[in-house]
Amino acid sequence: METAEIRRRFIAHFEQRGHTPVPSAPLLVDDPNLLFVNAGMVPFKPYFLGQEATPYPRATSVQKCIRTPDIEDVGKTTRHGTFFEMCGNFSFGDYFKEGAIELAWDLVTKPVEDGGFGFEESRLWPSVLAGDDEALHLWMKVTGLPEKRIVKLGPKENYWSMGVPGPGGPCSEILYDRGPEYGPDADWDAMGTAMAPELEDRYLEFWNLVFMQEELSAVRSKEDFDILGPLPRKNIDTGMGLERVAYLLQGKQNMYEIDVMFPVIERAQELSGRRYGADAGDDVRLRVVADHVRSSLMLIGDGVTPGNEGRGYVLRRLMRRAIRSMRLLGVEDRVLPELLPVSRDKMGVTYTELHRDWDRISTVAYAEEDAFRATLRAGTQIFDLAAGEAKKAGSPTLSGERAFALHDTYGFPIDLTLEMASEQGLSVDEDGFRRLMGQQRDRAKADAKAKKAKHGDATAYREVADGLGQRVEFTGYDEVVSEGTVRGIVFGGGAVSTAHAGDEVELVLDRTPFYAEGGGQLADQGVIELGNGARVEVLDVQSPLTGLIVHQVRVLDGEISVGEAAQSLVDVERRRSISRAHTATHMVHKAFREALGDTATQAGSENAPGRFRFDFSATGSVPGSVLADVEARVNDLVLADLPVEAEIMTQKEAVASGAMALFGEKYGDQVRVVSVGDWARELCGGTHTGRSAQLGVVKLLGESSIGSGVRRVEALVGADAYRFLAREHVLVAQLSEALKARPEELPERVSDLVERLRAAEKEIESFRVTQLLAAAGRLASEADAVGEVAFVGHRADGADAGDVRRLALDVRGRLAPDRPGVVAIVGSANGKPSVVVAVNDAARSRGISANALVKAAATALGGRGGGKDDVAQGGGADTSKVEQALADVRAELARA
Ligand code: SER
Repeated sequence: METAEIRRRFIAHFEQRGHTPVPSAPLLVDDPNLLFVNAGMVPFKPYFLGQEATPYPRATSVQKCIRTPDIEDVGKTTRHGTFFEMCGNFSFGDYFKEGAIELAWDLVTKPVEDGGFGFEESRLWPSVLAGDDEALHLWMKVTGLPEKRIVKLGPKENYWSMGVPGPGGPCSEILYDRGPEYGPDADWDAMGTAMAPELEDRYLEFWNLVFMQEELSAVRSKEDFDILGPLPRKNIDTGMGLERVAYLLQGKQNMYEIDVMFPVIERAQELSGRRYGADAGDDVRLRVVADHVRSSLMLIGDGVTPGNEGRGYVLRRLMRRAIRSMRLLGVEDRVLPELLPVSRDKMGVTYTELHRDWDRISTVAYAEEDAFRATLRAGTQIFDLAAGEAKKAGSPTLSGERAFALHDTYGFPIDLTLEMASEQGLSVDEDGFRRLMGQQRDRAKADAKAKKAKHGDATAYREVADGLGQRVEFTGYDEVVSEGTVRGIVFGGGAVSTAHAGDEVELVLDRTPFYAEGGGQLADQGVIELGNGARVEVLDVQSPLTGLIVHQVRVLDGEISVGEAAQSLVDVERRRSISRAHTATHMVHKAFREALGDTATQAGSENAPGRFRFDFSATGSVPGSVLADVEARVNDLVLADLPVEAEIMTQKEAVASGAMALFGEKYGDQVRVVSVGDWARELCGGTHTGRSAQLGVVKLLGESSIGSGVRRVEALVGADAYRFLAREHVLVAQLSEALKARPEELPERVSDLVERLRAAEKEIESFRVTQLLAAAGRLASEADAVGEVAFVGHRADGADAGDVRRLALDVRGRLAPDRPGVVAIVGSANGKPSVVVAVNDAARSRGISANALVKAAATALGGRGGGKDDVAQGGGADTSKVEQALADVRAELARA
């Protein structure tokens, strides 16, 4: 059964049973504890926790997920994928254990002809949390199986949590017995309540039913967590692994061989000439390629770009591992242009946006591969050098420091270093490498901890949010002054009830006009005045949890306490100036898309007072003419005084209205669409000007690359743009005055000046050389005799090394050729002496060497020298030793 059909049957089964089908949310998630959506329930978390009203009592979805903690296991086991799809059914206070068990059992055992998966009952083993007798008896009742067919497992397997604070509860898993080829028969009684690892491949867990009933405040491991208390209602959250069911129903050995993944392996086989199934090591590599290529595709599709931290780093690591695995399979050429489209064609059947956004996705991916290839080239050279040194030193081992430097500086993965070292018969000090990596990790952890401490602990926010019982009302779209009440104060990671003058604390109000940093827009600042006369200065505003707005404040005077009335006053100048920047960003985004096509999608932005930064995808640098056009277009539309309006609508309506959908929006949500006239329309939660003319003027300062396929434009708006232009105007006026030229004549005047300067320098140079060489004839005729040798020793103050050489050779050429002759010239320029000794053939045939003579001079000058027998040169540091150097050459010659 094809994956698409399994997906269809799952949704149909639950839709027919009263569940609302909900499309997959994007992989990126608005949760401080999670990097990516890692389970089907994540988009529903606020419903489970009772933070938001549930729009439906039952839902079903097939959710895109990313999990990377097991990345090293990919390809080695049959079931670990970094990207996977989780089919789920959810009940929000509706049915509970019995309903969940009935619904799942029905679908898996129903014959294929009747729309089910047709699994044989004899192969299925439900499990329960040891001690959950309610679940045990329900399984027996629903399935008719005897008690010995229900496996009892401990919390490691059968208590589910998000791994971070959030909802959780006991669970039941359905295991499928794949038969004795995959492992020994289970002796469940002897095994106890922990799943034996050797059974995991044979008894494959493919569906997890979570009886979600508690909220966890801390999760230290699967078995060690704190329960905060019961959830407002009992819920159901299930997750069926789409890939796992697919390989069971398709009769495949593992998830990498299913219909939506194997074509990548097939293409990789063609490219490498290696055959899947022929060599265990190659098989792992081929599976890694299939998995990582797909994960990278889906991540870029959802707006992640490769980078060095957070999500970007996960993506970069996946892409590099895929590319490197292909190299280890012997493919040195670019691989992504071959593999990524194969994955797109398979995944694009369900996720059609992969086709729509293909230009952007492929641009980002291919640029990253090129960057990595360059890294590999540079790193390989350093590696070869290190390997050469190790061999020369007679050591068969590459040091841990070397391996670490390759990793840290050149991004060279350690397994690549290991592989290349073994090819050269070397080993690597892996322990040393891991020690250094460990130290680096500790440093990074300490860093992250320090950062986290600054933002406080999520538990305290949670507590305040719970006390509030509703979302903080943001009034700042319409007001800059609002009345509200203090509802929470957070200090040192915990909730407190008061704070005093001088304290820096975090303050939560029930309603506030202060905009929390988000969507690229910086936070508002301002003042909050309390009913009792106390005043605080607002330094920063953040939203650490959905629906919560936290003001970071310094108490200026008085005492603030929970329950006090509060009047919030936003710094209006700053707000206006940030809003101008935000509206300008939308306009620049739209203008770039007009100029460069739809691939110029926004990849990030920062809207600050009077200035903004806009990052977007593009293959190469953007020509100056395009920048000029974009700037002109935006300023035309500023003058057109277009209205800027915000409207709330459904995501569907937004897309239909032509709004550019950005990433991170949940489907089905009400979204806010900001339009500049009929022209630029974007999903956006930020603040804007009322009309485009309020921007005044927009000035792009230039563009640059900030990494693979992403360009950055920096720009000024409003008064800041005006001041910038005014400053440039003054500068031009000053130049014009100094050069006595009209502004429009300046470029020509300057290039004229530069040309004339060059010509003059050339003339001076040739004049100097003529003068220098004019001395040559005289010097030759004034040669001394040292023994039988004609010797010219001369100091040429002001002559640099080039002049000295030229002069020495010229003088030598003027000496009588049949008599031994030696010329030594010592010059000094810019405080540095230099010496050249030239010896003619007649002197050389007597065994006189310029190389030996120049050494005497250089030693005197406090430096070194050398060369051939006929000409040698040197330098030094001490110009006061010029005479000494000449005397030493003469003495050395007399000895020869
Ligand atoms: N949340 C559970 C899991 O991830 C079931 O969906 O396994």
